[in-house]
Amino acid sequence: MATGSSTAAQRLAETIASAREMVDAARKDGAMVGLVPTMGFFHEGHLSLMRAARSECDFVAVTIFVNPRQFGEGEDLERYPRDPERDLELAAAAGVDLVFMPGGEEMYPPGFETAVTPGATASGLCGASRPGHFSGVLTVVAKLLNIFTPGRAYFGWKDAQQAAVVARMIDDLNFPVTLRVLPTVREDDGLAMSSRNAYLGPEERRQAAVIYAALEAAREAVLAGESDVATVRQLIADRIGRMPLVEPEYIEIVDARTMQPAARAGEGTLAAVAARVGAARLIDNIHLGREEPK
Ligand code: PAF
Repeated sequence: MATGSSTAAQRLAETIASAREMVDAARKDGAMVGLVPTMGFFHEGHLSLMRAARSECDFVAVTIFVNPRQFGEGEDLERYPRDPERDLELAAAAGVDLVFMPGGEEMYPPGFETAVTPGATASGLCGASRPGHFSGVLTVVAKLLNIFTPGRAYFGWKDAQQAAVVARMIDDLNFPVTLRVLPTVREDDGLAMSSRNAYLGPEERRQAAVIYAALEAAREAVLAGESDVATVRQLIADRIGRMPLVEPEYIEIVDARTMQPAARAGEGTLAAVAARVGAARLIDNIHLGREEPK
């Protein structure tokens, strides 16, 4: 589909100039612009962000860009699942006005050399196991916020550390945007929806559900009065250990805002897990000390 073409009311832009033109034209009438940045291969989690943006904004832009700068060496950049045709249909059905689908050189032309450096919020969890990842995320999110200058930007709570790092950047660098972070959407057995679930074979998929079951068990223990971090971590590790195909990379109890290790498990803290399951690296988290927001 060519730049500037349309499906029903939805338009597609492949260049920064055409995306800006379309969003600026919409904003002329005073429209509130909502931005949903994604890497595509949509699932219900993405669609919930688009629907929220649709209900809260006058003009909804979705970006689809598998951002090479947030993938480390040996990670899944090349095989990251992609299905742009299906994504465009799903976005149109969710009432999206504009899909921005740039190529690599449009976002990072020859000579590009600037990057946003995150601080302590990005030092642990995925920041520790994926060096450079959050700098890549912040660099592309900063570019997208500057291209669209939305009033609201939508992210999922599944990527809790990403949301915290982006929140910090928005505050620190004074981006005039309201961050909306929406609850994780789950499969019936609790597995957090993720594009990377597509890598799972049937038995891996079955066993992967233990991640959320373990997090739920941790929350129940904390709600029942347990607050010792080591005990809560061990509870999660023991539960996950029942499923041999699920290999934890980290199990941490952190402050939900700063992502720093928490002294006690309870209100304002998260239990966060990353685990390898076959070819997939899955992450999930849960608020300890209170019910999960719906
Ligand atoms: O969460 C994602 O899909 C990506 O990290 C994001 C925010 C679109 C940046 O590439």
